[in-house]
Amino acid sequence: MKKTISLTVNGCERSAEIEARTTLLDLVREQFGLTGAKLGCDIQVCGACTLLVDGKPVSACSMLAVDVEGCAIETVEGLSSKDKLHPIQEAFMEFGALQCGYCTSGFILTAKALLDECPQPSDEQIRDYLAGNFCRCGCYQEIVQAVKNVRGEA
Ligand code: FES
Ligand code: FES
Repeated sequence: MKKTISLTVNGCERSAEIEARTTLLDLVREQFGLTGAKLGCDIQVCGACTLLVDGKPVSACSMLAVDVEGCAIETVEGLSSKDKLHPIQEAFMEFGALQCGYCTSGFILTAKALLDECPQPSDEQIRDYLAGNFCRCGCYQEIVQAVKNVRGEA
């Protein structure tokens, strides 16, 4: 049986018809065409599917879309404007904090949640907060440096 839900996605009001089993990740990728968040492990371990729900990072592979009714969702696509990357994206570019990019959307959104809570985190706080995000290319050192050196309003 299908259900219609309403939510905010990157500041825009959206609605969608979903199945009870539809995940948040399937909703944003398949119905809204926002494919920055990736399916990795599908068991809430790798962080490739991370999205922000009301400002907090969640594993969208393991969250049901029915549970985000009325919530504000942020995806990586909502961070940049037409011709300007978000300061966290700029820092990832500057510090070479990505190779294949599969994990990058998840890292950037998790970093945004951290910097919203704590604008000047220590290396240890960054590592702790990002502990649920895996990078199989091994860019951890560069990612920490990038998050530490975000310039401007993150
Ligand atoms: S795909 Fe969701 S945590 Fe790995
Ligand atoms: S850049 Fe390839 S998995 Fe992180």
